[in-house]
Amino acid sequence: MHLTKEEERLLAGEGGEALRKAMEILLTLGEMNNAERLIPITSAQVSGVSYKTIGDAGLEFLRDMAESGAKVKVLTTLNPAGAPVEAAHELGFPEEFIRKQREILRAYESMGILVSCTCTPYYVGNLPRFGEHIAWAESSSVIYANSVIGARTNRESAISALAAALVGKVPEYGLHLSENRQGSFRVEIKTKLESSTDYAALGYYVGRNYKGIPVFAGASPQGEDLKALGAALATGAISMFHFAGATPEYREEKLEKIEVGEEELREAWEELNTCEEPDIVTIGCPHASLKEVLAVAKLNPRREVWIFTSRQVKELAERYIKNENIKIIADTCMVVAPLEELGIKCIGVNSAKAAFYSANLSKISVRFDSIENLLREE
Ligand code: F3S
Repeated sequence: MHLTKEEERLLAGEGGEALRKAMEILLTLGEMNNAERLIPITSAQVSGVSYKTIGDAGLEFLRDMAESGAKVKVLTTLNPAGAPVEAAHELGFPEEFIRKQREILRAYESMGILVSCTCTPYYVGNLPRFGEHIAWAESSSVIYANSVIGARTNRESAISALAAALVGKVPEYGLHLSENRQGSFRVEIKTKLESSTDYAALGYYVGRNYKGIPVFAGASPQGEDLKALGAALATGAISMFHFAGATPEYREEKLEKIEVGEEELREAWEELNTCEEPDIVTIGCPHASLKEVLAVAKLNPRREVWIFTSRQVKELAERYIKNENIKIIADTCMVVAPLEELGIKCIGVNSAKAAFYSANLSKISVRFDSIENLLREE
């Protein structure tokens, strides 16, 4: 890889140990992927925040980075943590967990990272422009940025996104290059999609069975549908999609076609459903928009529902929502919070991503269904 003089100085440790480590990480990543150079980024989204997922080893690493005094060079936001910053005790989270979670957040904050704790940074001000290069971790926000916003990012890991934020650059390969952003197969939708849960099932089916960049046609999604579709696609190895008439880089192209109809969606539906009667309904994977929170409230739920979202959306929504069955929870989510330690065995979700990771990471059973159906039951 070609390095500038400044980059060589950082690699030699002249900017301190954290920057030396960060340069080393970016260089290794670049060389593994045949990148020729580093390119500047305008923002970063860092994952690896929940104590549940990074554990003591992750906390130790962050402590070292923070103690070195390193600071990020670009606007950097943070993924959800394992517990809300406030109200964690109230919800019954274990004491030790809360203490370590807070230490992780302090370490990130001391590096100049905004403790936004949301996986929808584009709803809270980290909204890149079309064509900008960024370094985002968190698969659902990566695919949203590439596909819906038209910004350019590879699916960074927690460590590479942090390294990129500290240096302000990423290696130029993969989805940073125009030639790698074209569609690779076309998905003809042959059934009616009625909710973002249907889009999630579609994304899950395609994400589990195909690789590359799908180009969808045959439906008219809203912004939240695209968010649900992308998060589900990203449970596989997909980090970008196009949707005819809805995404900015969509082009008419001659591509190999596959068809997805009722049968394929049913297959996804059946695979994701592992229990019938949820202990609790959890909405907001990826974090809910204000529109989604208000839509849940409009259904006037008579069973307990937890909605995960950003602090900004929570604050606004709580001014209008008076139903005591609705708990709006910021900073965390049903997957990265230790729900299993709260004695919860079966959750109701409308997100294919939450269904997949709850079953596989948290070992919690799932009822996957539309919000209307989940809330209809007593
Ligand atoms: Fe976000 Fe948690 Fe889902 S981080 S995408 S709400 S698993």
